[in-house]
Amino acid sequence: MPPTTDQLGRPLRDLRISVTDRCNFRCPYCMPAEIYGEKYHFLPRPELLSFEEIERLARLFVDLGVAKIRITGGEPLLRHQLPGLIERLAALRGVRDLALTSNGALLAEQAKSLADAGLSRVTVSLDSHDAAVFRRMSGRDASPSAVLEGIEAAEAVGLGPVKINCVVMRGVNDDGLVELARRMRGTGRILRFIEYMDVGTLNDWDVARVVTAKEIVERIDAALPLVPAEPNYRGEVARRYVYRDGGGEIGVIASVSQPFCGDCTRARLTTEGKLVTCLFASDGVDLRAPLRAGESDAALLERIAGVWSRRSDRYSEERTAHTELPGRALRRRKLEMYQVGG
Ligand code: GTP
Ligand code: 5AD
Ligand code: SF4
Ligand code: SF4
Repeated sequence: MPPTTDQLGRPLRDLRISVTDRCNFRCPYCMPAEIYGEKYHFLPRPELLSFEEIERLARLFVDLGVAKIRITGGEPLLRHQLPGLIERLAALRGVRDLALTSNGALLAEQAKSLADAGLSRVTVSLDSHDAAVFRRMSGRDASPSAVLEGIEAAEAVGLGPVKINCVVMRGVNDDGLVELARRMRGTGRILRFIEYMDVGTLNDWDVARVVTAKEIVERIDAALPLVPAEPNYRGEVARRYVYRDGGGEIGVIASVSQPFCGDCTRARLTTEGKLVTCLFASDGVDLRAPLRAGESDAALLERIAGVWSRRSDRYSEERTAHTELPGRALRRRKLEMYQVGG
């Protein structure tokens, strides 16, 4: 089958599957606790795609060119019996990378069964090493040591090299960046700093809270000298830097200050089975209804290929079209991060 490309010539290569919209954290940049208290209504179970349904759709995406699958959420480790899904996806021919993004809190207890099921690697969020800052950034009485234990457990069962995601918010965790880099240096873990993005509409995004990748690199470089490195593959989201004296690498994800839509090959499947073609989309295209109505593989394939071929999303570039750093998010309805899965 010829590769399916969109209106801007971008092929479909990656699929990010959100397996739950629930989370045990309340990060202020994603699910602020003031809004998503304990009583927030997440999707009832019948609304979720079953593992059979996810597997069937994933197979169709692979037929259309997807070679990389990432499991996300919400917090994916809250999905009941997740290793059962990993096993199904790992068995798909054509998938050369099966990764998972987690907040790490439950990773220590689940790492082994995930690895046994065939997961390739994990990315874990860790916004700070400092217990008080971590509590603020996770919105919960959680501790960075539990996350570090999860990372160690993942490494012990072969889920490394582990990538560590740190979302940077000015005035909240930015004074700990160099310390975090120092602690990760020489461990084989790849620390990536993410610019605070205007995903969704409920995090009250303000450009004043964004620390740009440039500033992040300058700050780290001043303490721990860096040199830029080539991307591992075309369209890599993070820009890579290595420590001048060895000791490993870091990355910066500059979605706000240096958007990378031109190479965006990522489709997203939400928990309830919507196909979303941009992290900042207002909505997705429902695949669950036709799936549950008994649509054939051929018809579903055509449906998915049709959505991708009509795609022209480039939100981050539009947001940044006129100024180097936009003062505000574009005004439009947007799905939330925990729905789209990051
Ligand atoms: P690998 O390079 O395969 O390890 O994965 P990755 O860089 O996609 O890793 P990950 O899923 O951890 O992505 C890191 C973060 O980058 C996400 O959590 C998002 O915050 C951001 N990101 C990923 N994809 C996109 C995208 O398509 N657009 C934007 N704006 N941000 C993205
Ligand atoms: N800006 C930047 N990164 C975000 N993430 C969630 N919300 C935001 C945001 N508003 C990150 C999480 C996690 C990944 C799934 O996305 O920290 O690392
Ligand atoms: Fe949960 Fe991840 Fe959102 Fe934080 S960023 S609230 S860990 S889904
Ligand atoms: Fe892709 Fe949308 Fe992110 Fe641009 S903003 S890189 S189109 S997901």
